Amino acid sequence: MFAGRIAMERLATGSARLASANAAGGTAGSAAALPHVTIRGLTKRFDRVSIYENFDLDLPRGKLISVFGPNGCGKSTLINMIAGLVTYDAGEILFAGKRREQVKLGYVFQNYREALFPWMRAFDNIGYPLKLMKVPKPERRARTERLVAHLDVKIDLNRYPYELSGGQQQLVSIMRALIVEPEILFLDEPFSALDYEMTLFMREQLQRIFIETGMTIVLVSHDLEEAVYLADRILLLSRHPARIADFVVFDSARPRSAATLSSREFVQTKAHCLDVFQREVRG
Ligand SMILES: Nc1ncnc2c1ncn2[C@@H]1O[C@H](COP(=O)(O)OP(=O)(O)OP(=O)(O)O)[C@@H](O)[C@H]1O
Ligand SMILES: [Mg+2]
Repeated sequence: MFAGRIAMERLATGSARLASANAAGGTAGSAAALPHVTIRGLTKRFDRVSIYENFDLDLPRGKLISVFGPNGCGKSTLINMIAGLVTYDAGEILFAGKRREQVKLGYVFQNYREALFPWMRAFDNIGYPLKLMKVPKPERRARTERLVAHLDVKIDLNRYPYELSGGQQQLVSIMRALIVEPEILFLDEPFSALDYEMTLFMREQLQRIFIETGMTIVLVSHDLEEAVYLADRILLLSRHPARIADFVVFDSARPRSAATLSSREFVQTKAHCLDVFQREVRG
């Protein structure tokens, strides 16, 4: 709970700073062609264990990037370092000419049961980042209502988290991440605790949000089918110290549907990813 709360505060404060940077004319219009995130020489150790050693990566802007790799290889650590939630020992993470504090980020935690504030109704959970940004109450309310209407959410938002199903709680978490209109949305295995029907529904919601906003999304997924189905790029990581085993392009047209899953392109891409993954896990 507290880790989640601190993280939320850090992410939302970053957004507040962006507003003032933009007011001062601090946008980077010419940065559109640059990678959204550039990582160079990143080194991260926990105690003596090296998780990343001189690691380089470019994340393209406006793409949905799935991150896939064996347990403990460093997927969560990677997105946490990019999001500024975890420090690193060496290297740099750049945001196309902006400082980390100037970039609006959204983050959906894996464990939705601990990510929401139990004493707040769903509606107030969603608007909480705006409260941290000191957005006045009427505007908070209006923005939250607009987002809920836009996503066509059918949940009673006057309910407390414990009164909602797992899927509904996760939807609230996702809305809380979206309320700040992030440039980059991080999701750490967001659907892993949901049943299959709810997972399918949430995948479609995520795809819809992605198509509508064009934001950069980084999705950690343990489900290879999901990782490929949703992605423009699949980042395959080796065991730690993590290397890029492959960074696979999947350019199938959107919106993707059940038919995508049986397309030749999808089947081949998934088979290739599985091949690389098995080699990395065995190696
Ligand atoms: N706070 C920490 N202190 C010490 N070691 C840590 C800490 N956080 C992560 N690690 C270690 O770093 C490695 C990478 O962890 P991370 O959580 O990033 O893996 P992951 O790829 O997300 O794994 P999973 O698929 O199980 O979620 C693991 O070996 C883990 O034990
Ligand atoms: Mg993880």
